[in-house]
Amino acid sequence: MKKMKIMSVVGARPNFMKIAPFAHELVKHPDQFEHFLVHTGQHYDKAMSHSFFESLNIPHPDVDLGIGSGSHAEQVGRTMIEFEKVLLEQKPDWVVVVGDVNATCACSITAKKHHIKVAHIEAGLRSFDLHMPEEINRMVTDSICDLLLTPDEFANENLRREGHAESQIKFVGNIMIDTLEANRNQAAELDLNEIIQRNLIPPDVSGQASEVSTDFRSPVSDLCENSFTVLTMHRPSNVDSKETLESLVRLLIDKVSIEMPLVWSVHPRTKKNLQRFGLWDEVMQCANIILINPVGYHEMLKLNMSAKIMLTDSGGLQEESCVLGTPCITMRESTERPVTLVEHGGVSELTGSDPEGILVAFKQFLNFDRRGHFPRLWDGGTAKRIVNALRDAGC
Ligand code: UD1
Ligand code: UDP
Repeated sequence: MKKMKIMSVVGARPNFMKIAPFAHELVKHPDQFEHFLVHTGQHYDKAMSHSFFESLNIPHPDVDLGIGSGSHAEQVGRTMIEFEKVLLEQKPDWVVVVGDVNATCACSITAKKHHIKVAHIEAGLRSFDLHMPEEINRMVTDSICDLLLTPDEFANENLRREGHAESQIKFVGNIMIDTLEANRNQAAELDLNEIIQRNLIPPDVSGQASEVSTDFRSPVSDLCENSFTVLTMHRPSNVDSKETLESLVRLLIDKVSIEMPLVWSVHPRTKKNLQRFGLWDEVMQCANIILINPVGYHEMLKLNMSAKIMLTDSGGLQEESCVLGTPCITMRESTERPVTLVEHGGVSELTGSDPEGILVAFKQFLNFDRRGHFPRLWDGGTAKRIVNALRDAGC
C-alpha cells in the first residue's frame, strides 16, 4: 500500500503545541504515513520556538524557511515563495496547517494553487472581527481547505453557515488539550519559585532587557499557589498603540499588582513596544510585578494551574485556562473561542482593553474558585481522530 505523504507546517509559538500530538500519532503508523515537517521560521528566538521542540519532543523540522519578522505582506509573501520550492520538491499528498498565523494562510494558498489537498487543524473558529489579522487567516484558509478539522461545536456551526459541505467538516476536538493532558503531571511537579528565578528579567540601568543572571532574586521570592495573577499579552490591539498600552500598564501597576503579585511573561512584541513607548523602566521598577521572559510549555502550564487569576489576550491560554479552571480575564473585544466563556460553561470573561472593565472582572474573580470545564471532545484524543480522518480521506 502506498504511504500517505503528509507535509505539516508550523511557524509561531502557538503552532508547536498543536503539531506535537499530531506528529506523535503519525509516528505510530510508519507503514501508512510519511511525515515532513516545515518550520517557516516566523518565530525564531529559542524561548519562542526551539524550546518547544525540545520539551514537547517534536521531531526536528525537515526544513526551516527562515522567514523571520516583517510586515504581514513580507511574511506571507516570503513564506509563499520559499514554501512553494519545498512543495514542488517534496510533492506531498496532503499539507496540514494549524491555527491562524501567517504560515497557516500562506501555505494553504500555495498548496491549493498546486492542487495539493489541505487539511486545517482548528478550522471554523471565528471572532467576526476583521481587525484581527488572524481572522483573515482563518477565513482564507477555511475557504479553500479540503478537510476542516474543528475543535468545538461553534466552529461546526460557523462552517455550515458559510456553506461548507458536511462531508468536509470533521469534528475532532481540541488538539491543544491533547498536549495539556499529556504534560500536566510533569508540569505539576515544577517549583513555582524556581520557574521565576530561571526566567526572571533582571533590572538593567539601561532599560534594555538583558540575559537572566542566576544570582538575582525577584522582588517577590515566595510565590504561593492561588495567590498571584499571571499575565500574557501580545495582541496588536493591546500593545501596538501607546495610549492603550500605557493605560493597561497604569492599571497593572496601580490596581492589579496591589492585590497580589503579578507574574508577566513578556512577549517579544510587547517588550519592544514597552521600550519604544518609554514604559519599560516603570514596569521594571514596580515591586509587585515580576517580569519574566517567555517561558517553556511546562512552566507556563504550572503558572496557569497555580494562579488565582489569568489575565490574557492569548487564544491558547483561554483554552488551557478553561480546562484547568483558572478564572480568565480575556482582554479582547471578541473571541473566536466562545466555548471558553462563562456564559457557555467556561471560565473566561471578555473585557476588551478598557481598564475599568478589566478591574471590575478582576475584583469579581478574586472571589472565584478554580472550576475546570471540558467542552465536548476536549479529551486528549484529538490527534488520533485527526489521523483517522486523514486515513479515511485517502491520498
Ligand atoms: C504571531 C501571530 C499571532 C500569534 C502570536 C503568538 C500572525 C499574524 N500573528 O504574532 O496570531 O498569536 O504570533 O505568539 O501570524 N519577535 C522576536 N522574536 C521572535 C518572534 C518575534 O523578537 O522569535 C518580535 C519581532 O520584533 C516581531 C514581533 O515580535 O516583529 C512580532 O512578531 P510576529 O511574528 O510578526 O507576530 P506576533 O505578534 O508574534
Ligand atoms: N505559552 C508558553 N509560554 C509563555 C506564554 C505562552 O508556553 O510564556 C503557551 C501557552 O501556554 C499556549 C501557547 O503558548 O500553549 C499560546 O501561544 P500564544 O499566546 O503565543 O499565541 P495565541 O494562542 O494567542 O495565538
